[in-house]
Amino acid sequence: MTFKNQLVPAAPSRSLSSTVVYISIIFVLSTYVTIDFFKQHSSAFRLESQSSLSEADQAPSKLAATVVSAAAAASATLSMQPAEDDVCSSVFGHLPEHRSSQQQEADPWDQMKWIGKPARCRVKGELIENLDEHYNFRRGYALKFTADVEDKTHLLPWLLGSKVNLNARERRVYLDLGANALETSIQWFMRWYPCDFTEVHAFEINPQLLKLPEVEFAEDDNVEVPNPRAIVAKQTPGIPNWMLQRMTFYNQLVSDADDDATKAVNITRFMKETLNLSASDTVVVKMDIESVEWPILQRWLQDPQMAEIVDELFVEIHYQHPSMSGFLWDSWAPRTRDQASYLLASLRSKGFFVHPWP
Ligand SMILES: *[C@@H]1O[C@H](CO)[C@@H](O)[C@H](O)[C@H]1NC(C)=O
Ligand SMILES: *[C@@H]1O[C@H](CO)[C@@H](O)[C@H](O)[C@H]1NC(C)=O
Repeated sequence: MTFKNQLVPAAPSRSLSSTVVYISIIFVLSTYVTIDFFKQHSSAFRLESQSSLSEADQAPSKLAATVVSAAAAASATLSMQPAEDDVCSSVFGHLPEHRSSQQQEADPWDQMKWIGKPARCRVKGELIENLDEHYNFRRGYALKFTADVEDKTHLLPWLLGSKVNLNARERRVYLDLGANALETSIQWFMRWYPCDFTEVHAFEINPQLLKLPEVEFAEDDNVEVPNPRAIVAKQTPGIPNWMLQRMTFYNQLVSDADDDATKAVNITRFMKETLNLSASDTVVVKMDIESVEWPILQRWLQDPQMAEIVDELFVEIHYQHPSMSGFLWDSWAPRTRDQASYLLASLRSKGFFVHPWP
């Protein structure tokens, strides 16, 4: 009864509320159009944001402020969207966050996590690790979780192959540039990377280092003299023959320019012309070539085709830093760690899904 009495006067207010809904929809749509307009015409702000580092820190908030005042009623999420895109398409969205030592101490990611935190900008639409420059890009080692300076455990959660299915493509290529021995990194990628590669191309100038293994792994034979305190497996499984047949080794120098005298190969030309790689192939590249990465990556930054060809890039960037002197890194002067971060951030802003390789 009371129910019915309440419903009668409610009728006019119901039509009033649907009018409010229509007006709100029109308001939201026109707000969206306004924001889109500002987004399309924000190139002036973008230019400004690339002009210098200190200005760049202010540019995104300046843009956000303009958008907010233009569409005052827009929700916070909507108004931040253009600013976010703008930041992530420039190098500044990808640079490491500079924080005070108190901020670092208060950050659980800094002391607790073996893996780093996610970066604020995605690359190829996927999450990637924050650049971790103050640890020389070597989290596990710097935080004393491991004694291995080349530990790569922190990269495992961020592999592109675990986010998108790189196995769906017919041609799946792993390029190891500066391979060292078979166990150094080829084996790491064979074991850890979530892709069944159909081709492996490995470059190593020192013929003593990279050799195909001869001994085939046989499980039946893999038994050590029993020792109750030890595991009984004698040998780690090697790379099977069918996989070895997919591998090609090049006793040549990876370089930016071809040069027969030094056995140097222009790796950009090699990938595009000799291997005929394209965006429809899976291409994962590891690069550890003792500072020759600088000119090659500068070239790739200017070449949108390379950002499409290379799905994921792992690169050891060589620079001079006192804390790396023990590893003979003084010879990489005048390159600095800040320049290395800037190069990595630039590559990410151009669409390279790149990780520092320890
Ligand atoms: C290396 O090859 C690329 C692609 O063919 C070419 O554009 C570039 O000029 C070459 N580098 C040098 C130093 O010639
Ligand atoms: C190179 O790859 C393209 C597809 O990306 C293909 O159409 C072409 O035939 C290939 N060329 C050679 C020489 O294999």
